[in-house]
Parts: sequence; structure tokens; C-alpha cells
Amino acid sequence: MNRYQLGAENVTGVDSTSDNVLCVPVTSDSGQVGAGIESFANYDGIPAGAKDRPGLEGLFWSHDGTIVHKWHHYLPIYERYFSSFRGRKPRFLEIGVSKGGSLSLWRKYFGPDAIIFGIDIDPACDAFNGLSGQVRIGSQDDPEFLVNVVKEMGGVDIVLDDGSHYSKHIRASINTLFPLLEEGGVYMVEDLHATYWDSHEGGYQQSTSFIGDIRQMYDDMHHWYHNEGQRIKATTDTLASLHLYDSIAVLEKGRVLRPRHSQIGTAE
Ligand SMILES: C[S@@+](CC[C@H](N)C(=O)[O-])C[C@H]1O[C@@H](n2cnc3c(N)ncnc32)[C@H](O)[C@@H]1O
Repeated sequence: MNRYQLGAENVTGVDSTSDNVLCVPVTSDSGQVGAGIESFANYDGIPAGAKDRPGLEGLFWSHDGTIVHKWHHYLPIYERYFSSFRGRKPRFLEIGVSKGGSLSLWRKYFGPDAIIFGIDIDPACDAFNGLSGQVRIGSQDDPEFLVNVVKEMGGVDIVLDDGSHYSKHIRASINTLFPLLEEGGVYMVEDLHATYWDSHEGGYQQSTSFIGDIRQMYDDMHHWYHNEGQRIKATTDTLASLHLYDSIAVLEKGRVLRPRHSQIGTAE
């Protein structure tokens, strides 16, 4: 049973000390690649007019419930991949609930009919169950737990991995969840900067880093052109596209057909 009101806490969850200055090559609401993003990425406090911006950006900056924590340059990336699901009752799963604020943001973004679930390993997150969405407690590397959550959701159209940020956990979640993702669905992994950090068992070009999986997925996607086959079972034959940004990877699921080419025209 859903209760869609926000949590009782009234926290202005804006970290104005974060100074991630990036101009990511995504389409802004003006339709220009990269346009309008720089001024929103480099700010001191809430930028003027930010609360009135359309879509997720406006909802994020005007959020006043329990804390949601997002890097600024993620906002237009979410918009780019999630906006087509708005108003279509998407089944949305976020790995990592933390203070509960992101689930309330997603509820506002996707609407009252969306199926919104969050999972977290921290039992304290159960306090957010039923507020903006359903919360289930368990680990993102537990296949049985994940399968049961997706069953309860009636399937899944979007997965956003904002969980532990350990490569082994990101990989385990993909292994279970990508095969369960609906065709046409989106699987987004964020905070991939952590894969470079010792604190997260990461490192630069480290063999066990999820960045290596991304490379392997790209190689698998091109299996038509080499003799090594596809090595990542979860995405075999179903990874329609792979999009990379600073700290974010987006995997789109679709039917992958053998590529064909044609020469059209008459002139030699
Ligand atoms: C970055 S926070 C999530 C932030 C939240 N999505 C937001 O936008 O405000 C990461 C969360 O992942 C949870 N977490 C850590 N390891 C996990 C695991 N193995 N399985 C599921 N959740 C995990 C942590 O307890 C923490 O609440």
C-alpha cells in the first residue's frame, strides 16, 4: 500500500560545498548538446532559477523532504534516459535508498501510478517503506533477493544502481537484473568514479574493476567482427546500446539483430 507523502523530516539537502564543474555532452531542454549545463554544474548554493527549470532539474532543486544526494551533472543524464517513461507507469528500481529522498524525487518525477521500489542493505531504510515507494532490505549481490523484488514489482523497466559502488556488487546486480529488465528498458549505474578508489577495492585499469566489464560489453557488442564471442552472459544478445558519461554508464536493453549494410544509388 503506497502512502505518497514525503517524510516528516524537512531538510534542505543541498551540498553547496560540492564543486563538480563539468559540462557533459548531453542534450539540454534547449535541444543543444551541452548547452545550459555548465552554469548549473558550477554553482555556489542553489542557482538562480534552478527551482523553475523543467523536468527533473526543477524537482531536484526544489526538493524539501528527506535528503536526496545527486551529482549535478547527473540530472540532465537522468532526464535524457528516463523522460520517455514519464506518465507510462514505469516500474523503477533504485539500488541504494539511504535517506529516502531520492525515492520521493522519483515519485514526483514518474507520477502517482509508477511502481517505485528501493532496496538497501541498511535495515534503517525500512523507515522509508511506503512513503514514496516500497523499500526492501537486502543486498544488491543477493540474486534470490533481487529476483523476489522484481517479482513483487511485476517486472522492471528501469534500474538505477546507486548502491555500494563496489565493482563486484555492480556486476552481481547486473548479472541478475539485466536479464530481468524489460525489452526497451534502461539500466543505469552511477558513481563509477568509486571504481578507481582503494576504498571501494578499485584502482586505475584494475583487472577486477567494472570499467573492464564495460570494455568487455563493448567487445561483446562487436562479436560480429571478431572471433572471441560474447563473454558477459547477462548482456549477451540483448545489449542494444552502451552510453558512457563521467561516472555514469547507461545500458539500454533491446533486440539485437545481425548488422546489415546496403549500397543505394546508381553512380559509380
Ligand atoms: C549513495 S547511497 C544512496 C543515495 C540515494 N540513492 C540518493 O540518491 O540519495 C548508497 C546506499 O547504498 C546502500 N548499500 C551499500 N551496500 C549495499 C548493498 N550491498 N546492497 C544494497 N544497498 C547497499 C547504503 O546503505 C546506502 O544507503
